[in-house]
Amino acid sequence: MKVIMYGVSDDERRHVQAWQDQHQDEIKLVTEPLTKETIALAAGFDGVSTKQVESLDEEVYQQLSAFGIKHLALRIVGYNIVDFDKAHAHGITTVSNVPAYSPRAIAENGLAVALNLLRKISVLQDRERRGDFTLPESLMSEEIYTKTVGVIGVGNIGSASAQLYSALGARVLGYDPIYRANYEPYLTYTDLETVLKEADIITIHTPLDDSTREMLGAKEFALMKPGTIFINQARGGLVDTEAMIAALESGHLGGVGLDVLSSESEFFWKVIEDPAQLPADYQRLAKMPNAIVTPHSAYYTQTAVRNMVMQSLEDIRRFLDGQKPLYVVDL
Ligand code: COI
Repeated sequence: MKVIMYGVSDDERRHVQAWQDQHQDEIKLVTEPLTKETIALAAGFDGVSTKQVESLDEEVYQQLSAFGIKHLALRIVGYNIVDFDKAHAHGITTVSNVPAYSPRAIAENGLAVALNLLRKISVLQDRERRGDFTLPESLMSEEIYTKTVGVIGVGNIGSASAQLYSALGARVLGYDPIYRANYEPYLTYTDLETVLKEADIITIHTPLDDSTREMLGAKEFALMKPGTIFINQARGGLVDTEAMIAALESGHLGGVGLDVLSSESEFFWKVIEDPAQLPADYQRLAKMPNAIVTPHSAYYTQTAVRNMVMQSLEDIRRFLDGQKPLYVVDL
C-alpha cells in the first residue's frame, strides 16, 4: 500500500521503518499537519494518517475523496479535529483513531502532576531555589490515601487513572454516561454533581464534542470543594478557561495541572521566543505557583509513540484489505 503520514515527528520515524521492514509498503512522511495547504501531497496515495491538534479544513475531505481516499486514520485519540458531518458529506466513509495507544502514559503523567500539586513540590522547590528553607503551615500537605479522586470520563484513560489512584488507597468516584462493570473494582460510579462536590482531586478524560464543550464552567468550578486540584490532559475546550483561571486566582481551586489549553493549537510543537506573545491565559497561569502547565506532553512515552504509528498503519492496512479497522470512531 502507499500511505502518506502527516504531522510526523522524528521520534516516529524508526517505528515507520520497523513497519516497512515487515511490510514493504511505500510510506511518505510529512512533518506538516494535514491542511488545505498540504493536502495536494496526498495525490496518488491509498491511505492517509495524521497526528495534529489543528482542525481539518473542509477542503481536506473534498480532496481526499477526489484522490480516492475514503478512510482517514488519526494517529491520536482525540477526534475533535474532525467534522464528521462534513467528512461524510464529502465521501469519507471511515475515520479511525488510536484510543488505547497507551492509557497508562497519560494516567501516570496525570498522577505525577496531581501528586506534585498535592505535596506542593514545585512550590517548595521554587522557595528552596530562592534560599527559603522554611515550612509555613500553608504548605503542609496531606496524603493521597486520605483523598477522594473524581474521574470525569471513564474510558481507556480515565479508567487507567482510576486504577492508579485506587492502588494508592484513594477513594475514587467516576462519572461517565456509559457504565462499564469492569471498572467497578477501581471506582464508584456516581453523577457529575457528586464528583464535583466530593472530590479533592478532579481529573477529566472526556472526548471533546458538541455535548461536552465547556462542560466545566463557573457553576461547576463553584461546586468543587475549596482547595480542589483540577487536572486536564484531555482537551482545553472541555472547560471554560476564564472560569477555571478565575477559580484558581481567587484561591478556590488549590491547583491546576493542565497539559492542554483551548488556544494550544497555535503553539503545538512550536517555539515561541517571546513569552509575551503567548495569549493571556498562558501568561496568567505562568504567574500562579500552583499551576503546572505542560505542552501537550502527557502522552509522550516510548510505548505511546510506537503504538500510535503501528495501530494507525494497521488500521489503514485493514481498511485497504476490505476489513473493518480496529478503532473506527463511530459517531
Ligand atoms: C491525543 O492522542 O489525542 C493527544 O492528545 C496527543 C496527540 C495530540 C499527540
